[in-house]
Amino acid sequence: MITTLIASEKMSIIFAFSIIQFANNFFMKAYFDNVATTPIAPEVATSMNNVLTDFYGNPSSSHHFGRIAKTMIEKARTKIGRFLNVAPTEIVFTAGGTEANNLAIVGSVDSLNIKHIISSPIEHKAVLYPLEALAKKGVETHFVDIEPNGAVCAKSLETLLQKFPGSLVSLMHANNEIGTLLSMKDTAGLCHKYDAIFHCDMVQTIGHYEIDLKKLGVDLASCSAHKFHGPQGVGLLYINKEKIRISPILRGGSQESNMRSGTENIPGIIGMKTAFEHAHDNMEAAQNQVTHLKEYLAKELITNVPGISFAANSDKGGLYTILTVVFPEFGIDTEMMLMNLDIRGIAASGGSACSSGSTKISHVAKQLNISPTRAVIRFSFSMFNTKSEVDYCISKIINIMEQVKS
Ligand SMILES: Cc1ncc(COP(=O)(O)O)c(C=O)c1O
Repeated sequence: MITTLIASEKMSIIFAFSIIQFANNFFMKAYFDNVATTPIAPEVATSMNNVLTDFYGNPSSSHHFGRIAKTMIEKARTKIGRFLNVAPTEIVFTAGGTEANNLAIVGSVDSLNIKHIISSPIEHKAVLYPLEALAKKGVETHFVDIEPNGAVCAKSLETLLQKFPGSLVSLMHANNEIGTLLSMKDTAGLCHKYDAIFHCDMVQTIGHYEIDLKKLGVDLASCSAHKFHGPQGVGLLYINKEKIRISPILRGGSQESNMRSGTENIPGIIGMKTAFEHAHDNMEAAQNQVTHLKEYLAKELITNVPGISFAANSDKGGLYTILTVVFPEFGIDTEMMLMNLDIRGIAASGGSACSSGSTKISHVAKQLNISPTRAVIRFSFSMFNTKSEVDYCISKIINIMEQVKS
């Protein structure tokens, strides 16, 4: 009986996907899921292609093929270090943001004998799940209060720091679902007042703002290349070497100064370096263009959809790439709304897309007490989006709402 039910559920999902696939042939495509991943920039692809075809040496080999590969990695490290204003030795290349977060948290707990971690209930799962795993080993996590607008309550952070001085604090720079920004400098100041180590998941902000990690005062910072037109599967962790040493979590080789075993992903690292250059060269133009598109979508939705609102006031500020729309109750939930958009060629997201395509109500929406009967859709933009895509999206949203009503 149960197997028949599962089989029929699987069949209906396959059927729904086939309809979407078929419908997609007739509609324009508009990609508004840039927080999940961004399209790769052409110059990034070119730089990676050169490496893939011409530089295949293993950087750990002592012959000249290996030496060339090693030199390329070290040059990339120096260049990226300059963009972030850190020493090249403070950068550990990883397989993306998830690994960087795990390395920061598990690595500092192991080496610094951390017993208390302070974090927030609306972090990415790449922080929350390692915290859950560490709880089983006796490391306690204490969550700060979250303000109604999604911001970390500074008072609650200070209260926890007073209670647990010397903790590891892990708070994200920009929330990936609602775009709320953390004041990094103030948070770093508060952490250091109570001898705490400050780790920041900066996956959604590095490559979108000019970032000076030394000025911000953060001790550990995670970054992922595919969030700013670089390749998937590569990122980095910054470790403030003047202050801390952490333990590796992957063992088996001496790569990355013993901090991350495994043959380096050279095409990925070179692609990430080019993505940093691309971000730096286009920063202001991208910020202006994306902010304009976001504001335009928000304005048009307010005009055309009565009762619409925006989670955590994402229309008024926060990360400029995110607009999280809370639709009025009109008979379809987040999942149905996403499917209706998808049928019309529009890619957006409900909550975090990082966990197996699941669109069930997100932990962030729950924290903000958003009713599960209201569709919550995150539209996220990049410099490759256009106004005509936004116009198309608005017309299709109006169209979906009219169809449901009638
Ligand atoms: C805030 C945040 N942290 C971490 C991650 C994980 O990064 P990666 O996909 O590179 O593992 C994501 C991905 O969406 C994210 O948004």
